Amino acid sequence: MPQSLAQAVYLLAAVLFVLSLAGLSKQETARRGNLSGIVGMALALAATVALALDHSERPVAVTGSLILLVLLVGATVGTWQARRVEMTQMPELIAVLHSFVGLAAVLVGYNSFLTEPADPAHLVEVFLGVLIGAVTFTGSIVAYLKLSARMRSAPLSLPGRNWLNLAMVVVCGGLLAWFLVTHGVLPLLLMTAVALALGWHLVASIGGGDMPVVVSMLNSYSGWAAAAAGFMLGNDLLIVTGALVGSSGAILSWFMCRAMNRSFVSVILGGFGTEGGTVVSSDGVVGTHHEITAPGVAELLLGARTVVITPGYGMAVAKAQYPVAELVGKLRARGIEVRFGVHPVAGRLPGHMNVLLAEARVPYDIVLEMDEINGDLAETDVVLVIGANDTVNPAAVDDPSSPIAGMPVLEVWKAAQVVVFKRSMATGYAGVQNPLFFRENTSMLFGDAKVQVEQIMLAV
Ligand code: TAP
Repeated sequence: MPQSLAQAVYLLAAVLFVLSLAGLSKQETARRGNLSGIVGMALALAATVALALDHSERPVAVTGSLILLVLLVGATVGTWQARRVEMTQMPELIAVLHSFVGLAAVLVGYNSFLTEPADPAHLVEVFLGVLIGAVTFTGSIVAYLKLSARMRSAPLSLPGRNWLNLAMVVVCGGLLAWFLVTHGVLPLLLMTAVALALGWHLVASIGGGDMPVVVSMLNSYSGWAAAAAGFMLGNDLLIVTGALVGSSGAILSWFMCRAMNRSFVSVILGGFGTEGGTVVSSDGVVGTHHEITAPGVAELLLGARTVVITPGYGMAVAKAQYPVAELVGKLRARGIEVRFGVHPVAGRLPGHMNVLLAEARVPYDIVLEMDEINGDLAETDVVLVIGANDTVNPAAVDDPSSPIAGMPVLEVWKAAQVVVFKRSMATGYAGVQNPLFFRENTSMLFGDAKVQVEQIMLAV
């Protein structure tokens, strides 16, 4: 394939990637966005393989077979993993994939160093590519180990941890100078070891509670690592794609921090996260709670004009989205207005609830974001809180001493009646007690969310 044709295909792929990101920003267009990304990636791969075959010094059949073999192995492992993974394990899978990008950047860096002429600009590219790649590699592995509970999620708090990080960055700066003067492989090897340790330490210092933000940050790092690899390989598409991933990952991390009321800098520097998912503290029982049964909820719903459902992580665990969608269809058929209120960090990854609801074919126009629904909650007859906890906690608004004070929440307590679906009085992800459960207008429906929604449906 001539170089100019490959460049044209790369340009087309880059446009498709931008369209993909634009499409993914809205539910209605997400499917189309995904498709643009797939087509763009297929074109990019095809053009790259064609170019590689063109420039091959070995017989084309040999190079072709080698590439095919690698593609087959990658595609088989990728398809097998992606089909097997549960929605709730998605952050783990993403963390593992980032570690591959990091490792690839390190390998490309070394390959480029050993095969290309050593001009200073190229050496800086190699150095930065390997540095970012190595940090991303070990950082992502630690994130994976923490998310999959193979490593303790509590932050590793070494004394003077920020100074330690700073010292490692300064050492890398010194090694860059040495590398530029001598063009030798030793400073590159030493820097790789320091960068691997830095990636490990950076993420090990962050608690499990902040891990999803860290995964999104590592997503950003992996983008910059890919962009650096693009510079080394002289591949414009890799530079554009890396920059898109790098900046969108950074923007996403910032949004997540804002929605959790966490400071971006404190998350990156680490040591602030909670154990994640465990009951860290509960201020004892705040009062008495009222219980309700599934037929009781059915009665409430049939007497309501307006209903809002706020789903959370528990809906994902119970896989309750399907009966929930069915129940919504039944209620709407009776003329009851039903809408969903989705908190930006409900669940365990951005857009988690939107994906589940779309999967169960809930119409997009009744799925509203927190800011769109909060103003209507005071006029709502019944709110069903299905497996959500922190995202509906009034302490975030009323209690300045609460660990989640200041976090924007769905103000469900303003509705006439609230029903909370959960299995026990346990706390949510942040490990803080929820005074909502003890409010006069709140009733608790204990049990698995899926089973309970099915019971309600029977009663309806
Ligand atoms: P959580 O506060 O984690 O609460 C989930 C609730 O679901 C729990 O109280 C649990 O209570 C209940 N539950 C679990 N399994 C259930 C089942 N099978 N049936 C019924 N209920 C079940 O969830 P949330 O409101 O979605 O909040 C998300 C939390 O994750 C926030 O603290 C957020 O900051 C954090 N977080 C989110 C993200 C993103 S990007 N989404 C990233 C980082 C952190 P029981 O155990 O009593 O059943």
